[in-house]
Amino acid sequence: MPGTSSFLIVANRLPVDRVGEDMWRRSPGGLVTAIAPVLQRREGAWIGWHGAPDERLDPFEHDGMHLIPVPLSEQEVELYYEGFSNATLWPLYHDVVATPVYSRALWDAYRLVNERFARAAAEAAAPDAVVWVQDYQLQLVPAMLRRLRPDVRIGFFLHIPFPPGELFQQLPWRRELLEGLLGADLVGFQRPGGAANFIRLCRKTLGLQYQKHEIYVEDRVVRAEAFPISVDFGELDVLVREPHIVARAQEIRRDLGNPEHVLLGVDRLDYTKGIGQRLKAFGELLADGSIKPGEAVFVQIATPSRERVEEYIRLRDSIELQVGRINGEQGELGQQPVQYLHQSYDRDELAALYLAADVMVVTPLRDGMNLVAKEYISCRHDLRGALVLSEFAGAAEELKQAFMVNPYDVDGLKRTMLTAMRATPHDLSRRMRSLRRRVATYDVDRWAQDFLAALEA
Ligand code: ADP
Ligand code: G6P
Repeated sequence: MPGTSSFLIVANRLPVDRVGEDMWRRSPGGLVTAIAPVLQRREGAWIGWHGAPDERLDPFEHDGMHLIPVPLSEQEVELYYEGFSNATLWPLYHDVVATPVYSRALWDAYRLVNERFARAAAEAAAPDAVVWVQDYQLQLVPAMLRRLRPDVRIGFFLHIPFPPGELFQQLPWRRELLEGLLGADLVGFQRPGGAANFIRLCRKTLGLQYQKHEIYVEDRVVRAEAFPISVDFGELDVLVREPHIVARAQEIRRDLGNPEHVLLGVDRLDYTKGIGQRLKAFGELLADGSIKPGEAVFVQIATPSRERVEEYIRLRDSIELQVGRINGEQGELGQQPVQYLHQSYDRDELAALYLAADVMVVTPLRDGMNLVAKEYISCRHDLRGALVLSEFAGAAEELKQAFMVNPYDVDGLKRTMLTAMRATPHDLSRRMRSLRRRVATYDVDRWAQDFLAALEA
């Protein structure tokens, strides 16, 4: 029996996590930031896990969205979510900056859970519905769903990088993953390079013919193309002008001791984000006297993330050790050069932080897009503020007027952070104007429209 939703989002996570009886908290990460406004402006439903193990919940409404929870057992959280998704695929797709774990037990759980999501989508989708599957946790869903519901149109979008063949070929289940994705009518990537990697792999691994963006799969054509994701520019641009946000930004600077320069990092605490690299550069600038005591404060906001996965446990220890060292060696009584907060914040507080920061430091070793960079730009209608951006973030392809860095090059990072701190107001406003033009034009609505138009074409 088909369902009633003519537009369906299918993602590992719902936009909110259950944190208690009738208590919900916004889920972390860029996927939710981007997809929530898209669904809020359309009739439809979102299928996903609600963040707590071993719990079956009925569908419910939240913040203008119809949400359909998919349950995961404690063991599935461990094997499918923490395991195959975040200890195998996440590091593999991010240039193996950590070593991926290859285990058959993790793979079996991944397949099983993908089957459950596909079944939930098949039950919820109305005849001829549009079903939009999201991200690396659900790469088998398109083909599984097509078998159950050949009538629906299936889009897939990968929010993280799609790796080059040399890395992807390590995967013992590389064929199955490619075949899973090819169940979609349209497979979207952040960058053209990701789409090209995918198309080449389909030829090499599965022997499929292709022409430009089209791959020929039996009697079907699958398109693979780049659709760089974005943020809700308009919403942030309005929010940040509100008097309470402006006042809070001033208060933040005061609380930090009104230093000449406030530098800011906002990330999930993830080893792909290059947090250690940027702190090292900042620490050295203090140690070698390039920054005078009290002249600059580095605020690092690190959202707790995947806290039971081994690499994340190690990362947290190492960042906290590093922060302690810098503050211990370079700080003074009542004055700490690094303010580290391992916490999650609401949109208002983040907007105030963006407005308070002179230099936004975004230094991932590899990142699909990085929405934090685009959020910062959206908040700087004053045309002040400098964006230091890693060339390994997907965003670097669009945000050419940022202060670009190679985060592996500590000296380069130090130089660029200093250049950004010392840039003239004229240079900053010239750069920011051009960055804002780009993000205002290619906002998240435009992204969704482009993808869905291509899917329905
Ligand atoms: P990723 O998707 O890998 O987490 P992005 O930069 O693309 O990276 O997206 C991160 C999203 O999470 C942004 O929308 C950002 O505002 C939000 N975010 C990051 N850190 C925090 C935090 N401490 N509290 C609340 N939201 C956060
Ligand atoms: C990135 C991924 C998303 C994921 C998010 C948060 O944005 O692309 O798929 O939801 O990180 O990670 P988590 O593991 O907490 O869902």
